[in-house]
Amino acid sequence: MTIRELLTLMPSQAVEDGELCAYALLGMSLLVCRLEGEVRVFENRCPVDGASLDSGRLAGAILHCPKHQGSWDLRSGRPVTGQDNQALRRFDVFEHDGSIQIVTG
Ligand code: FES
Repeated sequence: MTIRELLTLMPSQAVEDGELCAYALLGMSLLVCRLEGEVRVFENRCPVDGASLDSGRLAGAILHCPKHQGSWDLRSGRPVTGQDNQALRRFDVFEHDGSIQIVTG
């Protein structure tokens, strides 16, 4: 059986639309972004070679990795170009009572 836990990350207003930020939680580095009003949270690690994605370039919904320019669509976490079809690890996200929360486990 897998135990899933709901964890509060930060206040909702801490992430503005079109912004990327890194957040450390329980030994994990997370990439938090808001696109078209909706918050998304991914592991802050490129699946190709481990670069921290918070220093990447965001163009609309497309995130370009700072190391080798791989790119992912942050609406889904799916790769846009190549990357051996490796998607970003995505967390389930909720906004509740003015806070951003994720599900782990
Ligand atoms: S480390 Fe991200 S594309 Fe190479």
